[in-house]
Amino acid sequence: MNEDTSSSRWIRRRQLSGQPRPSREILASAVGRSSLVTRRYYGVRVARLPSGLPPLRIAHLTDLHVGRVTPEARLIAAVEAANELDPDVVCLTGDYVAHSLRYLPRLTHCLKALKRPAFATLGNHDYWQDGGAVRRALEAIGIHVLMNESVELMAAGRKWRLVGIDDAVTNHHDVRRAFAQCNGEPTVVLSHLAELAPDCAGRGASLVLSGHTHGGQVRTGGVVDLVMRRMGHRYIMGWYAAGETAVYVNRGVGAAVFPWRSRHARAEVAGIELSPGLDRGPRISIAAAESDHGWPAPPAHGDGVAAPFPRVERT
Ligand SMILES: [Fe+2]
Repeated sequence: MNEDTSSSRWIRRRQLSGQPRPSREILASAVGRSSLVTRRYYGVRVARLPSGLPPLRIAHLTDLHVGRVTPEARLIAAVEAANELDPDVVCLTGDYVAHSLRYLPRLTHCLKALKRPAFATLGNHDYWQDGGAVRRALEAIGIHVLMNESVELMAAGRKWRLVGIDDAVTNHHDVRRAFAQCNGEPTVVLSHLAELAPDCAGRGASLVLSGHTHGGQVRTGGVVDLVMRRMGHRYIMGWYAAGETAVYVNRGVGAAVFPWRSRHARAEVAGIELSPGLDRGPRISIAAAESDHGWPAPPAHGDGVAAPFPRVERT
């Protein structure tokens, strides 16, 4: 059972039949956009953030993979979900294309509707096509692409730093260079591949946002996890702790090869509210809500929501 089989088939049948593509409005009513992407809300406390820092709200999208495998309606749904989160900033962590640059205009047409400042890093599929072309397409619609560099972000009257590490799968990453401008500010890292998280933790990051794995995409129980671990992935889906750094591996929006996703790895947009930790209690704690239930109350000491995620340390 997966959430998009019938709608994807319907859209592909229309495209292959040569019929004119349905308008976005018709698609929305036909497939019900909100069901195409799961919206997840997280309140996260990280002890290494200075107390009194106002929360930072992030909308995190990754692995959009525009192309024949990912229905346009799902891209539109993802952008709408990101806007509805009303974040301070939108973070995108790579793999915008699949096997062709031909669909890039479709992607930029969708992403242009983002209502908040957006920052991005590239992924392996972008480099396998043409990283420069993908970067130019994103920058042409006002998305700031971070290539082993960082920017200062003002949110709620306080300074944050966004670090963007270039794709590590294709060996374009340079973590040291990406952090070179950091000066002890609260730091959020964008990296397509989460395996760099322990290095980021050692450099003071509070949060690392990643994608790449698609949450295993067709995971059923532990079988896919086992295969992915055999392939060297330690971070597969959801929350992890690398030292005192919280790591989120987003399941992504699209797919590159085949469209199916198991119900354990449904397409998602994540809303993350990052706050300082409490004086007592765990170093990292999270509260989670799913779908349309809105932002959860931030975790409180004694809530029993402390670090329900694996700890992956430097090896
Ligand atoms: Fe991907």
